[in-house]
Amino acid sequence: MVSANDVKQVLVVGAGTMGHGIAEVFAIAGYNVFLADVNRQILDSAMDKIRWSLSKLAEKGQLKESVDSVMSRITAVISVNPDGSFSNDLAAAASQADMMIEAITEKLDAKQALFRFVDQHRKGKIIMATNTSSLPITEIASVTSSPELVVGMHFFNPPPLMPLIEVIKGERTSDDVVQSVVDLAKRIGKQPVVVNKDVPGFIVNRILARFLNTACWLVAKGRASVLEVDSTVRFSLGFPMGAFELADYSGIDVFYLIAVAMTQRGFRQTPCPLFEQMYKANTLGMKTGKGFYEYPKPGAYVRPQIPKDLAGKVDPVTLIAGAVNEAAWLLENGIATKEDIDKAVKLGLGWPKGVFELADQYGIDSIVATLSQLKQDIGPEYSPEPLLTQMVSQGTLGVKTGKGFYEYGHYEEVAKSTLIVRYEKPIAWIILNRPNKLNAINVDMINELSQTLDEIEQNPDVRVIILTGSGKAFSAGADITGFAGITPIQAAIFSRKFQELTLKMEYYTKPIIVAINGYALGGGLEIAMSGDIRIAAETAMLGQPEINLGFIPGAGGTQRLPRLIGRSSAKLLIFTGDMVSAKDAKELGLVDYVVPPERLEQEARSLALKLAEKPPLALLAAKLAVEMGLESNIWAGLALESQLFGLLFSTKDVVEGVSAFLEKRKPSFKGE
Ligand code: COA
Repeated sequence: MVSANDVKQVLVVGAGTMGHGIAEVFAIAGYNVFLADVNRQILDSAMDKIRWSLSKLAEKGQLKESVDSVMSRITAVISVNPDGSFSNDLAAAASQADMMIEAITEKLDAKQALFRFVDQHRKGKIIMATNTSSLPITEIASVTSSPELVVGMHFFNPPPLMPLIEVIKGERTSDDVVQSVVDLAKRIGKQPVVVNKDVPGFIVNRILARFLNTACWLVAKGRASVLEVDSTVRFSLGFPMGAFELADYSGIDVFYLIAVAMTQRGFRQTPCPLFEQMYKANTLGMKTGKGFYEYPKPGAYVRPQIPKDLAGKVDPVTLIAGAVNEAAWLLENGIATKEDIDKAVKLGLGWPKGVFELADQYGIDSIVATLSQLKQDIGPEYSPEPLLTQMVSQGTLGVKTGKGFYEYGHYEEVAKSTLIVRYEKPIAWIILNRPNKLNAINVDMINELSQTLDEIEQNPDVRVIILTGSGKAFSAGADITGFAGITPIQAAIFSRKFQELTLKMEYYTKPIIVAINGYALGGGLEIAMSGDIRIAAETAMLGQPEINLGFIPGAGGTQRLPRLIGRSSAKLLIFTGDMVSAKDAKELGLVDYVVPPERLEQEARSLALKLAEKPPLALLAAKLAVEMGLESNIWAGLALESQLFGLLFSTKDVVEGVSAFLEKRKPSFKGE
């Protein structure tokens, strides 16, 4: 046998944290389970924990039958005799089981002894799986007479809640056995990924180790604070927990010891000294009351306060580059497929995107450049993998070139006379393109911008627009050369036309992110203010200098600036014509984020991709409610809000959003 169909009776050996959870998962799925451990006390406590966990699932309506009927499928087995030898009960269980899953202590000799025993008593060709996270499957298998039956089945903690299982092929594991375990994993409602070679740490722990070690080195070298790293991890990368928050939560000892075990087996890493120091000082995180953060008392978890405004103080690319390099290594060495690697980090670590998806998003070129820097700063493990450098030389750089690890469909650049439109599904970039004139806005540019917005409005592939400038300016304003000899009436008409463009932007049906790459002056700033969100490079300068030319802003500046920053600050800027730095503009409320110039493009893209996943109709409704509400009074605004709120309940996106929440999956909004 060895087919998943034939598995009815499962023997789980080890009833600790993982073992009892694994037993529970199989019992819920309808399997009969022997749960074995060394004494009655451990088994009783395991059974209590399973019952408690089942009752929680039942409360949430996630159990199809009663707690008792699930419990009735689990039989506790004492596995050893008082003299330490394996018991007859274990032998009997082994002889009835169709599959064994070992989840005992992470010691090779203990595991080998158990496998030897089960091998001797098994009824025939049964699957013998180990839940080890750090020991070689091949060495565990070596003591059995049929190493082809031995396989890794690595669950994540806690097994009833974590959907991922890494299925690891030892050197001699048969393909049938791997396939059966994959099938079984699906039958128990889990999502398997296949690890084709028994490498230390498999997929998830290798990638996590790179990520944590990099984060730790940044702090150890004084490049960033714990809070800056964690804020960036949570709020820029969108991971569920900061790197140090996670280390504290799971235990610094856990990560330290996994890293040590992996390193002993050949995983090359320059260990960050902080983890070792903290391990030795027994400051292990939540469980000891102190780690990178402080807790009220040992074991009492209070989520650390991580300020959002520190997000981006560290370049997110620095934090993920090592993880991407590791993933590239896994892929180029045939350890796992790209899809499985991405699935593993999403399900095992809760990253909102796969590691390759992130790499594509941030650009393979910037990952490689960052790796070269980290290699110098930290160690040789950051040497960029050949796969990545090849991608750079081939120009497959990710989302921005339409192809990276994945294909991004529609990618095309259309050059108009004053701007470039780059379609990078689901984003359209509009790049003001008169760099020699600092993207000064002439009538052609106004017309082309307006037409382009109309075209993109009709394009269902585009969910978000990013507006930026080429060269050193976003735009230095209306083209002053066009003002020579113009009559008052012509000036008024020009102003009106320009205002129409800004109104079109303000009430546009898709979000417009403005990436202010340099000067945003006069009409340039007026365009920027008509977008929905402004991200500025640190080097950008903003202002309304018209007064110096003898006139006033004519494309909404006198109206939108006070609405954004208040009337007196607006008057100050307009009266003096002075420029403000991006940082000061942020303080005034004129821009929403400020980032180093080399990161502007990435940050704008990340935000755009985030918005592109939101329901388009709800985004539009939110935009209209905010914009129109601010222009009327609160009664009218609230009335509009409730009408739009109601209207959204006629959309398929609401059905999708609510069902995805209930089914614990990511929604896919269609804008219908
Ligand atoms: N209209 C037309 N041309 C403009 C322009 C504008 N608003 N802003 C800049 N340019 C042109 C410059 O004339 C220059 O062209 P040239 O090389 O043919 O002489 C080119 O862009 C580069 O500008 P330059 O002034 O050399 O760059 P700089 O770095 O020295 O100075 C600014 C940058 C932004 C401070 C300066 O260009 C400036 O003050 N521009 C006008 C800003 C303004 O008043 N805007 C409101 C218009 S309503």
